[in-house]
Amino acid sequence: MSESPTVIPLPVSCRFTGGAPFRLTETTVVVHGDAALEETARLLAALLDVTAGAAAKNLPAIHLMVDPALAGRLGLEGYVLGISARGVEIRGGGPAGVFYGTQSLRQLLPPDVERFGWRANGQDVTAPALEIEDRPRFGWRGSLLDVSRHFSPVSEVKRYLDTMALQKLNVFHWHLVDDQGWRIEIRKYPKLTSVGAWRAGTTRVGAEQETDAVPHGGFYTQEEIRDVVAYAAARFITVVPEIEVPGHSSAALAAYPEFGNTDAPGYAPQLRTGWSIFPETYAPKPETLQFLDDVFTEVLGLFPGKFIHVGGDEAMKEQWEESPATRAFMRANGLKDGREMQSWFIRRTENFLAQRGRRLIGWDEIQEGGLAPGAAMMAWRDVKWAVEAARLGHDVVMAPTSHTYFDYTEGTAEEEGGAIGTQTTLEKVYSFDPVPAELEPAHHARVLGAQGQLWRERMPSLAVVEHRAYPRLSALAEVVWSPAQSKNYADFRKRLPWLLARFDRLGVNYRRPR
Ligand code: ACM
Repeated sequence: MSESPTVIPLPVSCRFTGGAPFRLTETTVVVHGDAALEETARLLAALLDVTAGAAAKNLPAIHLMVDPALAGRLGLEGYVLGISARGVEIRGGGPAGVFYGTQSLRQLLPPDVERFGWRANGQDVTAPALEIEDRPRFGWRGSLLDVSRHFSPVSEVKRYLDTMALQKLNVFHWHLVDDQGWRIEIRKYPKLTSVGAWRAGTTRVGAEQETDAVPHGGFYTQEEIRDVVAYAAARFITVVPEIEVPGHSSAALAAYPEFGNTDAPGYAPQLRTGWSIFPETYAPKPETLQFLDDVFTEVLGLFPGKFIHVGGDEAMKEQWEESPATRAFMRANGLKDGREMQSWFIRRTENFLAQRGRRLIGWDEIQEGGLAPGAAMMAWRDVKWAVEAARLGHDVVMAPTSHTYFDYTEGTAEEEGGAIGTQTTLEKVYSFDPVPAELEPAHHARVLGAQGQLWRERMPSLAVVEHRAYPRLSALAEVVWSPAQSKNYADFRKRLPWLLARFDRLGVNYRRPR
């Protein structure tokens, strides 16, 4: 045993008490004293293949409890985990803290519990005697999954959420809408999915001029969305849906061309099969604004989280500027160029969401032409955008291409023919600090956290997603959870084999680190 516990992300503090270990057996019971812990107890008992219920006298138990007194010191996500031969006690500042305590306990048990529960393939199943005290550094510990470029059914999404939960990631940024597919059922506009969710083919990886003739598509019914949101909530993961406005709207406009700039020269929206940025944008006319309000109304009914992501990236300005109707609208509203037109859409959406008690978050382009007052910003092109926004009093989430784009190659380009971008190694991801060095301490609290991006132009299957995600997302999980001063790449690499052994049992197709 190294001096660090075999846990990723590394806990804030851990003291090995030197006593006899806890031994998990078939008679171990998961006990909880709070209705809010019912699901956490059930999940842990199911993993270990033991029962959840009342403790029998003289038998070791795993006790779960919320201890409000802890919340002041460790927050609602903090917990204390005590392990001894007599039993396990997990106290959380809130239910989330208890859940994270169970994930640490899980990682202290042999990897084989993932498949065999307490039987652990016939091994002795013990966890070392210790006392862990832990809390996250950031509240936004996220992962973006693009299901537009390539679709994943609910079963795959749940599997993905399972690996997030194991590493205490808590924001699932679900990229549901893009030029190549609209993936969420909107009852009022059925063509979004009957037309916008099914494309005729897909550009080939490595031969971008060629498009195959294999239809690709799929979408989530509202019932499935509710199921995923509940599944995530049971694992203390908030789902942040992304509905792109005003660009990346080819799929929507292929279904409902009347909502675009129909009088722009050459206007011909189509559901895209290839990877690029496309000229279509929503037009600022009453029927389009009604459409957007209707879409967001249905979205708000499905996703209870505070934040709604509205995209806002890479909106081309030409069709606005070339459409006589939109030009007239811009003149009448004092908007001097396409950037201000974009900003107008974002402000309007921000207002719509704020009136309904929600907050808008969008990619850093939403800052061009002025950031809406209550908007939060997700920095992807450069952290300098986050620095600027934080100084202006906006909350920011760090998602820079420099460290968090896991569609970028991890090995050399030759090794990973399909991957793009500059090499983003495991060590580079680990070195990331979500708080930019140039940001003054007075603004540090504006940095909500960070997230890893899995854009799926070149990730047709979940197996490829997992290969790109892991273990880089594990490094990021530690970046956003563990104290900055305890970061140590060599120590992370010493603990990593334990997590990878767990991934092996779970069948996660991670990339073997070099
Ligand atoms: C992005 O990568 N367009 C946010």
